[in-house]
Amino acid sequence: MTTRILTGITTTGTPHLGNYAGAIRPAILASQQPGADSFYFLADYHALIKCDDPLRIQRSRLEIAATWLAGGLDPDKVTFYRQSDIPEIPELTWLLTCVSAKGLLNRAHAYKASVDKNLENGEDPDAGVSMGLYSYPVLMAADILMFNAHKVPVGRDQIQHVEMARDIGQRFNHLFGQGKEFFVMPEALIEESVATLPGLDGRKMSKSYDNTIPLFSSAKDLKDAISRIVTDSRAPGEPKDPDQSHLFTLYQAFSTPAQSGEFRQALLEGLGWGEAKQRLFQLLDSQLGEARERYHQLIERPADLEDILLAGAQKARRTASPFLEQLREAVGLRSFRASAQVTSGAKKKAAKAARFVSFRDDDGSFRFRLLAADGEQLLLSRRFADGKAAGAVSKRLQQGAELDLRAEATSFSVWLDDEQVADSPAFADAAARDRAIEGLRAALQPAQD
Ligand code: TRP
Repeated sequence: MTTRILTGITTTGTPHLGNYAGAIRPAILASQQPGADSFYFLADYHALIKCDDPLRIQRSRLEIAATWLAGGLDPDKVTFYRQSDIPEIPELTWLLTCVSAKGLLNRAHAYKASVDKNLENGEDPDAGVSMGLYSYPVLMAADILMFNAHKVPVGRDQIQHVEMARDIGQRFNHLFGQGKEFFVMPEALIEESVATLPGLDGRKMSKSYDNTIPLFSSAKDLKDAISRIVTDSRAPGEPKDPDQSHLFTLYQAFSTPAQSGEFRQALLEGLGWGEAKQRLFQLLDSQLGEARERYHQLIERPADLEDILLAGAQKARRTASPFLEQLREAVGLRSFRASAQVTSGAKKKAAKAARFVSFRDDDGSFRFRLLAADGEQLLLSRRFADGKAAGAVSKRLQQGAELDLRAEATSFSVWLDDEQVADSPAFADAAARDRAIEGLRAALQPAQD
């Protein structure tokens, strides 16, 4: 069984060491696990919600793409793309918007925080709130549901959004699925074991605290940042407490247990902070130096990055495009051609195309088959004790009784009045099953008058 893992990275900034240790590195490692089918993307539509500086958006997309590839992401193994290269996503966003309760979105943390702040300042509750911010969770639901992701690695602040994706997907399934689950219910994946790195001042490393350590800028920038890590005032020779030192925490996040054990010992024995910083620099430089090199090579070849991302988008769209087609069909955005056949007195034609054949089974029971025009069996009825009952059922199907189709693993069954009346054959896979369901619906669609 493969597990589809999907996550998006909002393209508004330059990744720092904390992003790398907390999200990028674990995601790349997860993508290398057997059975992982990873979808990683640049959430550049989401970026537009928070940022109206085109240059910054452009720059950040490039830097984030280069960071992931330099970090070892294999674009042949995963599906790596830009959200904005997948037109199916905004289209799905609209289908989902139409089934999303406004009340649900009123409860989104990010929106509520804006409202609370406005109220505190005596402003209109919605001052400065764009529809983009308000609908943020619907766009994110489309990202996730479009690819039927099972697991969505995110930070804690995003758990609510994944839950909303479930709510919205469930609602769509319920309204349009007719017994079939279009969308898989995604689960947020919170990596407890992954380090939340402290920044220069010991608080969580974050752009908003201005305490970050750059990831791939240059060895000199790295050194400068490390020199600004806040330590206590113990002099060289005085023992230091590694567990009270965020410098040690940073070291630990990038070293083997043996290395960090040695470093711990050295601090306990009075290693000076200057020397400790030097060692941290050497560690990070050796861990990241090669990737930094790759990063700069990638940044200098933006056309190559473009090609990689466009190939990724193509790969993603091979899944998205036929799936969206099914969803459009489900909500009623159907080709006139298909329905014209049925409406324009073509009931006869449809009936001709698929025919019911009744027969008596070896055990004397009465049954029927529904055969497609080419003779392929679409349905086999259950056994009926008398011919009349079998005839009544096939007649109702012929007359376009509302179809209650229930999908099983690779087959489906047909129900009338909550009673199972017929089965499909087994198909090669769920996709073949779904095509057969569509075929059956088309064959049995009632004439609309
Ligand atoms: N909102 C996420 C964040 O800010 C980014 C994101 C967008 C995302 N779409 C997603 C994450 C889909 C996971 C799945 O971190």
